[in-house]
Amino acid sequence: RPARFTLDPAFTVGAVNPRLFGSFVEHLGRCVYTGVFEPGHPTADAEGLRQDVLELVRELGVTAVRYPGGNFVSGYKWEDSVGPVADRPRRLDLAWRSTETNRFGLSEYIAFLKKIGPEAEPMMAVNLGTRGVAEALELQEYANHPAGTALSDLRAEHGDKDPFGIRLWCLGNEMDGPWQTGHKTAEEYGRLAAETARAMRQIDPDVELVACGSSSQAMETFAAWEATVLKETYDLVDHISLHAYYEPHDGDVDSFLASAVDMESFIENVVATCDHVGARLKSKKRINLSFDEWNVWYMSRTEAQVSALDWPEAPRLLEDNYSVLDAVVFGSLLIALLRHADRVTVACLAQLVNVIAPIMTEPGGPAWRQTTFFPFSQASKYGRGEVLDVRVDSPTYDTAKYGEADLLHATAVRAGDGSVTVFAVNRSRTEALPLEVALSGLDLTRVVEHSALADADPDARNTLAEPERVVPHRVDGTTLADGRLTAALEPLSWNVIRLR
Ligand code: AHR
Repeated sequence: RPARFTLDPAFTVGAVNPRLFGSFVEHLGRCVYTGVFEPGHPTADAEGLRQDVLELVRELGVTAVRYPGGNFVSGYKWEDSVGPVADRPRRLDLAWRSTETNRFGLSEYIAFLKKIGPEAEPMMAVNLGTRGVAEALELQEYANHPAGTALSDLRAEHGDKDPFGIRLWCLGNEMDGPWQTGHKTAEEYGRLAAETARAMRQIDPDVELVACGSSSQAMETFAAWEATVLKETYDLVDHISLHAYYEPHDGDVDSFLASAVDMESFIENVVATCDHVGARLKSKKRINLSFDEWNVWYMSRTEAQVSALDWPEAPRLLEDNYSVLDAVVFGSLLIALLRHADRVTVACLAQLVNVIAPIMTEPGGPAWRQTTFFPFSQASKYGRGEVLDVRVDSPTYDTAKYGEADLLHATAVRAGDGSVTVFAVNRSRTEALPLEVALSGLDLTRVVEHSALADADPDARNTLAEPERVVPHRVDGTTLADGRLTAALEPLSWNVIRLR
């Protein structure tokens, strides 16, 4: 039977915050070095930024870019990363057992963002692992104070007269994780985050602050962590973070395809926890969600790699090569974020280049798009506006992890000009899924385009040797007549159906 839903502009979820299409650049592996930054590369500009990568980043449609970590930030000394490059120290990066040269630092990050374009916005993390309130304040003064103090004048002396204007700040990273340098209990972190937030607001009451939530829904401390942290920080922060990575375990592809079931329940459980704390505090304020690390990541394959490292510079780490199957799951994760756009107001795809990334590079060589590049770029391009409330009536299938799951996962976004884009995933590995969408109260007359990412070989990937093996293709036969959209979704496919 077909999968069905109704679209009606009277029933909406909320407006999409452009920050939903954020990403993440960490000093990890080759994300920075030989990724975004490679002096001497044939396409490098005067600042060492790879133009071929910048072009792909623009095409990807990235907005907020979280930096400099990740686990890296818990050992980060921001002052090592500014000033004359020749004077910058080499340091041990404990998180990734690598050597950090600091050739790329704060100023280079801001220059990179400026070159991406007007939508690119800094999202800077402070180190609350091995450091605290004072260092966060110093970084904020260096970055944002206009002039006339030691640190703001130092920035000007370093060549950046204009303040960086960083508005969005993360108060540490994954502080609930025992792997984190300077890992804390919820009580310890909650107090530190509150005091850091209070002090940062003394410099600028308008900063937007993200408190660390859980590193995944599976953490033992999940939900209790959020409740404790928010009890301390509720009036002082704007967002709480969520992180989630998915991969197939023990070859269970059917559960992997339903990963967004976990992601949606994670979001809903964090919303419930935030609102519970708000209710107990009798507060009208709502805490929003910053899903600032999400992706498909074959983590189990890469775990052993790190412990075997002997402090190399920019090693090849976490360089997952994504298949069509991965891209379909990835698209479904994007759908999950859009479906909760009322509360998820920041999201960062982890990461941007080389490290579990949509863009790959070779040192001295080309840059290319992974399969996951396409769902992201299409969602960023067409997923702007108001998310419509999509309640699917879909055939289901059995999964070991999540029980019965819908074969169809979908959302729809209505742009300011009235056009609507449907994003849909067919989770069936073998069958095409007929789709019928009733359009109520929408002045739509035609299908502009139905694009799909699918392949006879779900394991197909883009590689250095074959960088364009997988690209989206046009689907014919999708129709809109008498207020009804009719389509067939190929097995294991990500679909973008644009209506006008
Ligand atoms: O994105 C890779 C790593 O995953 C980040 O450094 C960390 O925050 C998370 O565990």
